[in-house]
Amino acid sequence: MAALVGTIVSACSPGRNQHVFPLIPYPMRLLPGSGYFLLDPATRVILTETDDAELRGVAERWLQEVRSQTTLPLRIASEAEDRHRPNAILLQLDRPACRGDEEGYRLVVDRRRVLLEAGSPVGIFYGLQTLGQLLPTRHGSGSSGRGPSWRIPSVEIEDAPRFPYRGMHLDVGRHVFPVSFIRRYIDWMAAFKMNTFHWHLTEDQGGRLEVRRYPRLTEVGAFRAETMVEKNHDPYIGDGVPYGGYYTQADVRDIVAYAAERFVTIIPEIEMPGHSTAALAAYPELACTDGPFEVATRWGVFEDIYCPGERTFLFLEAVLEEVMELFPGEYIHIGGDEAPKRSWEESPLAQAVIRREGLADEQELQSYFIGRIEAFLNSRGRRLIGWDEILEGGLAPNATVMSWRGIAGGIEAAREGHDVIMTPTSHLYFDFYQGDPSQEPLAIGGYTPLERVYAFEPVPEELTTEEARHILGAQANVWTEYMKTTDYVEYMVYPRLLALAEVVWSPSEARDWAGFLARLSPRLARLDAAGVNYRIPDVSGLEHDRLTLDSHFTVELGTPLAEGEIRYTTDGSEATVASPRYTSPLRIQATDEGTSVAARIFLPDGRSSAVRRARFARARLHRAESPEPVDLRPGVTGERFQGAFGSVEDLRGLDPVESSVTEGLEVHHELEGNELGFRFAGLLRVPRDDVYTFHVSSEHGSRLYVDHRLVVDHDGFHGMVERVGDVALEAGLHPLEVWYFRGEGGGGLRVQISGERLSRSDIPEGWLYHR
Ligand code: ACM
Repeated sequence: MAALVGTIVSACSPGRNQHVFPLIPYPMRLLPGSGYFLLDPATRVILTETDDAELRGVAERWLQEVRSQTTLPLRIASEAEDRHRPNAILLQLDRPACRGDEEGYRLVVDRRRVLLEAGSPVGIFYGLQTLGQLLPTRHGSGSSGRGPSWRIPSVEIEDAPRFPYRGMHLDVGRHVFPVSFIRRYIDWMAAFKMNTFHWHLTEDQGGRLEVRRYPRLTEVGAFRAETMVEKNHDPYIGDGVPYGGYYTQADVRDIVAYAAERFVTIIPEIEMPGHSTAALAAYPELACTDGPFEVATRWGVFEDIYCPGERTFLFLEAVLEEVMELFPGEYIHIGGDEAPKRSWEESPLAQAVIRREGLADEQELQSYFIGRIEAFLNSRGRRLIGWDEILEGGLAPNATVMSWRGIAGGIEAAREGHDVIMTPTSHLYFDFYQGDPSQEPLAIGGYTPLERVYAFEPVPEELTTEEARHILGAQANVWTEYMKTTDYVEYMVYPRLLALAEVVWSPSEARDWAGFLARLSPRLARLDAAGVNYRIPDVSGLEHDRLTLDSHFTVELGTPLAEGEIRYTTDGSEATVASPRYTSPLRIQATDEGTSVAARIFLPDGRSSAVRRARFARARLHRAESPEPVDLRPGVTGERFQGAFGSVEDLRGLDPVESSVTEGLEVHHELEGNELGFRFAGLLRVPRDDVYTFHVSSEHGSRLYVDHRLVVDHDGFHGMVERVGDVALEAGLHPLEVWYFRGEGGGGLRVQISGERLSRSDIPEGWLYHR
């Protein structure tokens, strides 16, 4: 980061100075000053509104944290003390709405004092989080051995969030976590300016909320006989260990109040009509089929769901009455996802409701179900949120949609004038792997590394400015099938939460991956000090295998962690603490067989990152077509297939339903219809001999071939993630083929190219042909 030193600083360029001001999320505007404010035992906090209890609470709680971090005896000044004294942190609550946003604040640090102004206590709260991040970290205190002096660099910051909804979800149905952990989860959300906790309280494998009117929901529904071992679905293997637990209403009140003090609103989720097996085990008369039912011990989607009869509505309304007593926030989440309709198809009661209400089918019956619940919630002054399946069969009139199966549901809802929260599997499922699955603890699947979270853009390009106003923000989901412990939850959440915090808080112009990494180290040091189990980010520089036409490679490895040491090997062996230490770029001979570089980061306390490995080999130049075919026409042929595929291999030998010539290699995620496949075929004309890198993003699977050789293998079901491959091509024409399929809820396909002398772009115009 030395290159940043000496750059010209401008008030409006948030990308600069990020190492001096290691703030996450980065503020809207930051203007560095000169010198610093020194926090010492005589520093006092002064409140301009001494009788505002909420403000005082905010200040007291912040001081408690800073006292424990610094051991300085900081406190709020008494009425008798001089209000104009230097060496003060002045909290001023009378700021005229400078940014028109009640969560915004202005923070001015100079040699004499700190001034924090906001229009409301929440703005002061966020300003104090920023101020706390400007303090040196213990871990970053350097080698003097005397510990840090508590300097805060002079600065002027003006800040307000980009989105009003900044969410984190936690599934306590699959595994349940103690109240103390829920508090800690909320603490760290708030520290990074996240403001909504989506608490997923009911599941097939356990209902976790005490409901007075229906005690069996927890007496029976909160306990399961055992839990499936890893992924032993078939044949099924259970662990034989009874499992359960729930939150009492007193616990919930405590957590709601705790969250409110940190300006976190809790949205409770009570799943309906599906994911309700635990409730049906407690009250089997609510199902369409005869029980008995058992609280589920395996993961998945279950056929038995609430039957849409009056008994069910009376039950759910009574449950929701208690939920609304406990949770004062405007929103109630009612699930709505993954509700198979077979039991409704076979149920005389459900069919009678369809006839009575004049509904077309079971999808419309689900809409009717959700619509009734919405009317009930609206009549109590609350609003309904549901997963994007609530779009099917028609959206309830005032519903807010959580778009999880990609972003298409969110786009559709926004166009219909509904509010939307973006939570797509492609970027924001924190139950997905963050690294090579062979190196990671067992997870549900997918691949959502830190960089991918950071790259998420909540507002789709397709929306008009007016429609985009309906995108309230974004949220990461933490489903806990494979997260049995709080340590593992933290491992999956941090540091990905920090990346999300910047996505939803900072202005989009401030998004800067290198800057984020530079700011990460002090933030992780603070998590360390609090004993939070974050995942140590991978070594950079080994993201994928590489080829070259040169005689050697220069391989630059990196870590965002100031105290991290990189250890590496080049002989194919495991990188251990005894391996050579990386100090400068590696010069690696380019050979035909290639060299495997493995590296990992070690922290002073012995913890280490996962190993990253990549292969570096000499490229063999693929000859171009010679002689060049005549009668070339621009564009490639695109064939479309229809069907439920699980691999691009399923497309081979099928007759396409449609065939046309297209200019590019893109399948837009908005294209109508799921369960389809594509094959693009043609010739790629490259202008010069070079190593070309193909960047293929797809949801679901894809494969890219050049000269009939597989260059990118991205087959199978996965979220919208990128995979890359290199190939060395002689100037001229090369056969190119791309296969793609998508299943239910899939996204699109995008192919980009880069070269040693070509910056990354879509395939340039004039490069694609067919005969
Ligand atoms: C979901 O992941 N089923 C919303």
